[in-house]
Amino acid sequence: MHHFNYRDGQLYCEGVDLQAVAEAVGTPFYAYSSATLCRHANVIADAFVGMDCLIAFSVKANGNLAVLKTLASQGCGADVVSGGELERALRAGIPADRIVFSGVGKTRDEMALALNVGIHQFNVESAAELAALSAVGAELDRVAPVALRVNPDVAAGGHPNISTGKSGDKFGVPWSDAAGLYEAMRSMPGVEAVGVDVHIGSQIDALGPMKLAFEKVVGMVRDLEAQGHKLSRIDLGGGLGIPYKDGDAPASPKAYADMIRSVTDGLGLQVILEPGRVIAGNAGILVSEVLYEKPAPDRTFLIVDAGMNDLMRPALYQAHHDIMPLQQVSEDMPRLTYDVVGPICESTDKFSTKAELPQLGSGQKIAIMSAGAYGAVLANQYNARPLVPEVLIKDDEFDVIRRRPSFEEMVMLEEMPDWLD
Ligand code: LLP
Repeated sequence: MHHFNYRDGQLYCEGVDLQAVAEAVGTPFYAYSSATLCRHANVIADAFVGMDCLIAFSVKANGNLAVLKTLASQGCGADVVSGGELERALRAGIPADRIVFSGVGKTRDEMALALNVGIHQFNVESAAELAALSAVGAELDRVAPVALRVNPDVAAGGHPNISTGKSGDKFGVPWSDAAGLYEAMRSMPGVEAVGVDVHIGSQIDALGPMKLAFEKVVGMVRDLEAQGHKLSRIDLGGGLGIPYKDGDAPASPKAYADMIRSVTDGLGLQVILEPGRVIAGNAGILVSEVLYEKPAPDRTFLIVDAGMNDLMRPALYQAHHDIMPLQQVSEDMPRLTYDVVGPICESTDKFSTKAELPQLGSGQKIAIMSAGAYGAVLANQYNARPLVPEVLIKDDEFDVIRRRPSFEEMVMLEEMPDWLD
């Protein structure tokens, strides 16, 4: 469910004509719907109503400050994986005691920053990281609340590159090492075990693998409690998939919540969730303009002004994103088959292969749908292209929440050595 719909033949986001935004801001740009972000945050929160639950939005999915503030206003906490993401979450007004710190490679400086602001939890992924955190905690005279991220050896996720729960993946401590590490924590001065954490992948449509992993983790919690560990939380990560096209049928938030409710029933622990994509994915689009049509012997290329540097998902994961013209074309108009490509000098710079689209000419604009998660955050300046602006729409207003940098701003951090001057 989202708030991008045709109205009077034009694609609108909420009450705003996207063509008007394109004229004001220039293409390409990301547009986010505030109503969709809020709705998704509330659908998740409602599904868990009655449970002691912290919904920690995964900042890696969309870290724009205005997006984070919108979600904070709906009660979301944050899941961060770097000092930068932690600073973003705090800047957006998310209190430190609603922020969890995940990631396999936290530096000591990042640990100190998080400890000093009073973070809710560190999700620790190795014995070496645990030792470093304890040392930093002891140095600062603080005790870090820790959940070990365990690797349940369960495969899941929409693409091999986003599957994280198998034993060969770099994520989590090996299952058989976990009990020993909890035991070791008892005598480590700077850390305290508060829970267990798991995250097995992203864009997961079926609940089966998650249920299997969560049941294993609940079993571990019970074993640890039997060994005298006093735990107060279980963190079940993120990963719920979203529909990217007609026919996709990921489990609903309600079904996901019911599964978690039944698996964690009677534990008496706070349940932490780290949803990213399910909140932001369908709340954003990338708007681009058609530059040229280029016939080739076996296909026609539609060359648009957005590139793989702006939206990397198709190049990285062969991901599908629906494409909708901003100007509606009636259903009975003939469809043409296009490869929609960008201007980047790479063959992977392709948004879709053999897409059935109405005839589109130079100057017409398209929306690349479902780009609100892992879109702008993964963008880069390859081919010396400026990062594209981000626009937040609420009702019938839009605001630029990150503007396009000038060329001067793009080269601002570079310096010429004296000997080249
Ligand atoms: N928690 C942890 C520890 C994670 O690693 C992730 C995602 C999440 C939560 C949020 O997962 P979500 O609810 O969004 O599925 N760039 C890829 C996705 C990478 C996901 C990385 N981790 C993509 O565009 O598909």
